[in-house]
Amino acid sequence: MITPPGLPAGCPPWYSRPAARAWTCAPAPTARVQAFHAGLPGYAPTPLTEVPAIAAELGVGRVLVKDESARLGLPAFKVLGASWAVRQVLTRRPAGSRVVLVTATDGNHGRALARMARLFGQQAHVFVPGGVHPTAVAAIAAEGARVTEITGTYDEAVRLAAEAARAPAAELVQDAGWPGYEEVPGWIVEGYSTLFAEIDAQLAEAGTGEPALVAIPAGVGSLTQACVIHYRGRAGGRAPALLTVEPGTAACVLASLVRGELGTISTSETIMAGLNCGTPSMVAWPYLRDGLDAAVAVADADSAAAARDLAGYGIPAGPCGGASLAGARAALTGEDAEARRAALAVGPAATVVLLCTEGSAANPVPES
Ligand SMILES: Cc1ncc(COP(=O)(O)O)c(C=O)c1O
Repeated sequence: MITPPGLPAGCPPWYSRPAARAWTCAPAPTARVQAFHAGLPGYAPTPLTEVPAIAAELGVGRVLVKDESARLGLPAFKVLGASWAVRQVLTRRPAGSRVVLVTATDGNHGRALARMARLFGQQAHVFVPGGVHPTAVAAIAAEGARVTEITGTYDEAVRLAAEAARAPAAELVQDAGWPGYEEVPGWIVEGYSTLFAEIDAQLAEAGTGEPALVAIPAGVGSLTQACVIHYRGRAGGRAPALLTVEPGTAACVLASLVRGELGTISTSETIMAGLNCGTPSMVAWPYLRDGLDAAVAVADADSAAAARDLAGYGIPAGPCGGASLAGARAALTGEDAEARRAALAVGPAATVVLLCTEGSAANPVPES
């Protein structure tokens, strides 16, 4: 496997722990969350698109791509979490009260929060770190949010957002948690459960059983937490292998797994802006540590190439969306692929699900 640039010293690009498939946890309250999402304006399940050419390339039976390029009118999956969390936050406040919903973002979560604040008649204040594409920043402002751009990292933006949310009538709606701040990120993770419930229904419709492998682009790991809860939170059936994919320049989940403890790494810019995080969510960490089979890091050029390939198959992937395919390629093909395939228990008849978490409208894909 080729080591992408930017990995912390001594951190390999690949980690696996097959015992994770036997780990179980409590299930998610999927039905309540799905009913809420179904009531939002414009809700429809996003497509799960089969791409036989990618299955042939990866040497597996079927590849299906969950295409989040148009989710509730936005170009990424994040609104599933932001909407459910905003609903929960507003439900516990006195009816009719006004609140400023505060967050930090690499782009997609902040835009989703701003959209939901507007839908529910509230205001949003969004902190944006350096390196986020200007069109992504403009898109947040266009939702009616107050935007504060900083020159520092995502972690610094989170700290500033948490500080700003201490003001009266303000509420932090962050998609990562730490000790003392667990409830809201927990709601965001619950919100993501709709995506996996849709996949179940769509795989059943496609006549496919449980997938053998699900590839997940990871930033702070909250989407991965939702994925682990979905597949490890139910009894019976064959548990799929779960693989996170991160940029080499911001592989905080991989680095923490390799070290065996949650840690912070220094990050640098990546076209996979939504994955540019230096510290995994502490709320997600126990699920990542115990329930995740494998983690891989990829280079920007590989996610861009994967996104362009997906576009060629009619899936308008952004750079984070391409990461899953780049990660599956790194894991399932190339030198020593046999050992990695064995660790993931992926054979020639396997069904692989790739989460394409954003469209190119969220973040542009560089030309080759
Ligand atoms: C498009 C996209 N994909 C994946 C992720 C990763 O989600 P998480 O930070 O929960 O790991 C993000 C996070 O912002 C994102 O914007």
